[in-house]
Amino acid sequence: MRNLKNILVTGGAGFIGCNFIHLLLEGEPEFTGRIINLDALTYAGNSASLTDLAGQFGTQYCFEHGDICDRGFVDALFKKYGIDTVVHFAAESHVDRSIYGPETFIKTNVMGTFTLLEAARNAWKEGDGVLFHHISTDEVYGSLGETGAFSETTPYDPRSPYSASKASSDHLVMAYHHTYGLPITLSNCSNNYGPYQFPEKLIPLMILNIVEGKPLPVYGDGKNIRDWVYVEDHNRAVWTILHTGVTGEKYNIGGENEWENIRLLHTLIDLVSQKAGLDPEKVRGTITFVKDRPGHDRRYAIDCSRIKRELGWTRKVGFEEGLAKTVDWYLANTSWVDGIRSGEYQRWVEKTYGERCRY
Ligand code: NAD
Ligand code: DAU
Repeated sequence: MRNLKNILVTGGAGFIGCNFIHLLLEGEPEFTGRIINLDALTYAGNSASLTDLAGQFGTQYCFEHGDICDRGFVDALFKKYGIDTVVHFAAESHVDRSIYGPETFIKTNVMGTFTLLEAARNAWKEGDGVLFHHISTDEVYGSLGETGAFSETTPYDPRSPYSASKASSDHLVMAYHHTYGLPITLSNCSNNYGPYQFPEKLIPLMILNIVEGKPLPVYGDGKNIRDWVYVEDHNRAVWTILHTGVTGEKYNIGGENEWENIRLLHTLIDLVSQKAGLDPEKVRGTITFVKDRPGHDRRYAIDCSRIKRELGWTRKVGFEEGLAKTVDWYLANTSWVDGIRSGEYQRWVEKTYGERCRY
């Protein structure tokens, strides 16, 4: 069992990163270490997701505003805080944006990961009691047909600029282990959902559009399949790997919970309508089939038997419970939603919506 003391969390103001920080500080009483959250606060980063943690947890939580591509800044953080663990969430994460503008994906996801690896290699000359954990995605494996699931040995076959940039970063992380002996672990997870997710992604976008009576844009025929896992279950898996994962190894994480997009949307319509007092049949009338995402992966499914078998991780939150919690959270946190939608996000959605709707 590793003793984690000074954890550099990158991208801790984003969806999964902020949930990870909340979990450690509020849900893991035995955690006595310190979290240093390094985030550039891009359009997807939101300090409102971490309000008052510094006040509540004192020196156990520190925020550092900066870019993971800035080598001098990252080196200084390793020194200032004596970092022994890196949990690397920071990334450009939205597939549609990577199609419209791939460059920042290469900068942050490839060059940013490279910069962090170099800083860790430089700071951790001894290599004892340190760990670099890289957060990645099932999208690196490509697209599945009607059967089968991605395992840790499935060859990489990324098909969007986003997944190609994540695949590159995974390869760099592995290469630093094999070449320099850097102690690393890596995880590839399926689609996350839960509180604090940026409302450009399917589930929060649909929840908010249903409530606001806006069109519900379904790409292509709506029959693409994703595997959904509640964000807290993903983060518990990461926490497990940090403690007991084998150095140099990778672990798949998933929900074993496959849904066609259109079926998921009908379920969400029923749930949100019931909670918000809407007529589900009227809401169904706002479903709009739009132009498909170029290179749209048809199906993802994750075989996560390894982390279950070897590290004893299991999911705790069923899909029905997780979706209900998520809908309740978005209905209750309107000021968070208004805040995140007031800036660059709104402009991007408006600028590209027309194009995305031409079928
Ligand atoms: P997100 O877009 O919500 O958050 C990304 C965070 O990274 C933001 O806070 C942003 O400000 C920060 N960031 C971006 N560029 C940065 C830079 N150059 N320097 C410092 N900070 C920067 O993303 P997310 O959905 O929370 O995903 C987190 C990680 O998990 C990513 O690596 C993603 O590839 C991976 N992942 C996501 C999912 C999912 O379903 N969301 C599933 C599997 C894996
Ligand atoms: O699989 C893990 C990946 O899941 C992560 O690596 C990514 O960071 C994360 O964004 C997510 O990628 P997806 O492309 O699967 O998620 P998204 O929410 O964008 O889309 C889910 C599915 O819904 C996908 O088939 C596209 C479809 N979709 C999406 C949107 C936003 C629609 O039909 N309409 C929409 O408006």
